[in-house]
Amino acid sequence: MSNFKIKPAVRTENITYAVRDIIVLANEVAKTGKEMLYLNIGDPNLFDFEPPRHLIDATYDAMLRNKNGYSPSSGIGEAVKAIEGEAERKRIKNIHDIFVTTGASEAIELAVTALVNQGENVLTPTPGYPLYTAVASKLQAFENPYYLDEENGWQPDIEDIKSKINEKTKGIIIINPNNPTGSNANYETLKKLVDFAVENNLVIFADEIYDKLLFDDAKHISLASISPDASVITFGGLSKNYMVPGFRIGWGIVSGQKAVLADYIEAINKMLRARLSANHPEQYGIKPALEGNQDHLTLALEKLHRRRDMTVEMLNAIPGISCVKPEGAFYAFPKIEMKSSDNHFVAELIKETGVVVVPGTGFGQKPGTHHFRVVFLPQDEKLEKAYKSIASFTEKYFNAYEK
Ligand SMILES: Cc1ncc(COP(=O)(O)O)c(C=O)c1O
Repeated sequence: MSNFKIKPAVRTENITYAVRDIIVLANEVAKTGKEMLYLNIGDPNLFDFEPPRHLIDATYDAMLRNKNGYSPSSGIGEAVKAIEGEAERKRIKNIHDIFVTTGASEAIELAVTALVNQGENVLTPTPGYPLYTAVASKLQAFENPYYLDEENGWQPDIEDIKSKINEKTKGIIIINPNNPTGSNANYETLKKLVDFAVENNLVIFADEIYDKLLFDDAKHISLASISPDASVITFGGLSKNYMVPGFRIGWGIVSGQKAVLADYIEAINKMLRARLSANHPEQYGIKPALEGNQDHLTLALEKLHRRRDMTVEMLNAIPGISCVKPEGAFYAFPKIEMKSSDNHFVAELIKETGVVVVPGTGFGQKPGTHHFRVVFLPQDEKLEKAYKSIASFTEKYFNAYEK
C-alpha cells in the first residue's frame, strides 16, 4: 500500500456547517443506546408538518407526463411566471431576472460566486446561516461579519455595518426572518440598510426563505420593495414555507436598475446554463404552491406559535439563560451567561442528556458571548422534555464549571 495521500484543495479548509457537523458527536452518543432528542435541524418533515397535497399531486403528475428530462436552465415558464407573481405580491419592482435552482442554497452559491473574486468580501450577518460563510471560504473570499444586536431584538446593527465596509466589499447579506435568531427586521432598519447599500454600490442578498412563517402580528417587509434602485437578489423557495426541503426547489429574483445589473445577470445566467437545470418535475409544484390554498400555513403557524411560546418561557426560566422572543421562522438563539465555550456546553449537554442543539459558534456571535440554537419544530411533549433536560443539565454544568 502506498503512503500517498490525495491533498484536498486549500479552499475546502475552512468549510464548516455546524448544523450537520454536530451530528458526528450525536451519532456516537446514540450508539450507546441513549434516547436522543434532536433540536438541531430545520427539517419540518421530521416532525408533524406536511406539505400541501396539491403540490405533491402536481409534481407526481409532471413525472407521469414524463417531465423527467432537463428543464430550461432558468426554470420552466409557468414556475418563473408564478414566482414573478409572488414577487409582485411582495411589492418588488424593477424585476429583471428570475431563476429556479436546486434549493435556495444553489441560488445563493451561484449569485455569490458570480459576484465575488478571491480576496474580496461580503458583509455577512452574525449570527447568520453558515452556508454564506462556507461559500465565501470556497471562493477564497472573506466573510466580513456584521453584528445583529441582541439588545435590540437581534436587528442588524447599522452602525456596525458602516464601520465594517472597506474597498473590497462587494455585497451585503440580510437573512430575514433570520436563522438562527428568528428575528424579523423592521422597516426603519431595512431602509437604512438599503440606503447604505445604494450609496456604496453594494449588491444586497436578501434571503427571505422564511417570509411566510411569522408570529403574532409581525409583518414581513421584502427588502427589495423598499427601493426600486437597489441591486437586490431576493432568495426564496419551497423548503420552509411549503415544507418540502427534500424537493430541493429554490429561486432568485433580481431587481434594481437594468443597466447596472446587466453584466452581473449575464454572469449568473452563464453559470445557470453550465449546470444545465434545477430538478425538473418538482418545479411543477411551484405554481400550485404559490397560487393554491395556503391552509397548511394556518395549521403550521398555530403549532409553531405555541412551540415558540413554550421555548421562550421554558428557556427564560433557566437561571443563566436568556432568550429573545423569535418573531418568525422556527429557531431561537438563547444566550448562556458563562465563561466556558458554547462548544463545550453543547458537547456535554449531548453526552449527558441526548438533547442535540447547535453551538452558537457555528453561526457566529459577538466575542465573549455564548449561545446555542434550538429548532422548535418538534412536538410539544418532545420540546417540553428537552427543555426540562436542558434546565437540570445547566444547573449541574454551572456547578461543575462556572463556580
Ligand atoms: C436562511 C436560510 N437560507 C437558505 C437555506 C437553504 O434552503 P434550501 O433548502 O432552499 O436550499 C436555509 C436552510 O435552512 C436557511 O435557513
